[in-house]
Amino acid sequence: MVRPRRLRGTAAMRRMVAENRVHPADLILPAFVREGVSEPVPIASMPGVVQHSRDSLRKAAVEAAEAGLSGIMLFGVPEEDKKDAVGTPGTDPDGILQVALRDVRAEVGDALVVMSDLCLDEVTDHGHCGVLDAEGTVDNDATLERYAEMALVQASAGAHVLGPSGMMDGQVGHVRRALDEAGHQDVALLAYTAKYASAFYGPFREAVNSSLTGDRRAYQQDAPNGREALRELELDLAEGADMVMVKPGLPYLDVLRQIADASPVPVAAYQISGEYAMVEAAAERGWVDRERAVEETLTAFKRAGADLILTYWATEFAARLR
Ligand code: PBG
Repeated sequence: MVRPRRLRGTAAMRRMVAENRVHPADLILPAFVREGVSEPVPIASMPGVVQHSRDSLRKAAVEAAEAGLSGIMLFGVPEEDKKDAVGTPGTDPDGILQVALRDVRAEVGDALVVMSDLCLDEVTDHGHCGVLDAEGTVDNDATLERYAEMALVQASAGAHVLGPSGMMDGQVGHVRRALDEAGHQDVALLAYTAKYASAFYGPFREAVNSSLTGDRRAYQQDAPNGREALRELELDLAEGADMVMVKPGLPYLDVLRQIADASPVPVAAYQISGEYAMVEAAAERGWVDRERAVEETLTAFKRAGADLILTYWATEFAARLR
């Protein structure tokens, strides 16, 4: 009799036949750094995640490298009164994200791939991912100019990889040209290729002290559309994306699988703030086993075809694997 259960009987047997496993090198830690604080500030909706001080970020980067992670993705949280309509802290060479990039590069050198979020929502007073026109709509092409300027200061500050995440049309090509013309031809782009307007970004708003009212549905993808992600993939590849990403993670595993099957470049999945918060909250109530739930979600990304996973559990999980 055929008995698939034969291969499930012991932990050693299951380990031997596992089709997918998560390796520390698959993992990238997203990290927030807040201007003007001397101690890390907890993020209530993301238990265990903080807005780092410059010092605590450096320590977190060292721990990430020691745990064997591949990279760290930095998000800057400027002082509230520095935000404005065009996101000036994003292009200030001494803006918090640029300062943090220099700090982390000074600390870890090339031991981690140091990445930065290339978007305006952390630095604008209206919280949108771009600059607004007279009607209050995000102006695609005016935003591209801002992204190009941001890309240059982030590259100059030492980022190895930039993550254009605003879902503006043409953003990858525009940023690529600006980098190349300025001599930053070796800085890579991790394109947020299929990025969906999602309820699961909720805790991120607290993480970056976002001032957003309304939502991002007019520029991020709409949940019902899977095929459209392949069109975004084609465009990002044509524009020069070095790696592509699907975001959020768990609600879009089908999209991840489609992109993984079609992409000739490495594919990342971003397990976002609300996915993290959901598991942490349920675990806190004793409703799910935290460690098993974390492992199961990360394994799901590998099974769906991800090469890389951005997760707030990256360092903890990698340490567990050691
Ligand atoms: C854009 C950006 C966002 C996230 C990563 N980059 C927010 C958004 O697009 O609304 C969300 C990450 C998360 O929720 O964990 N700067």
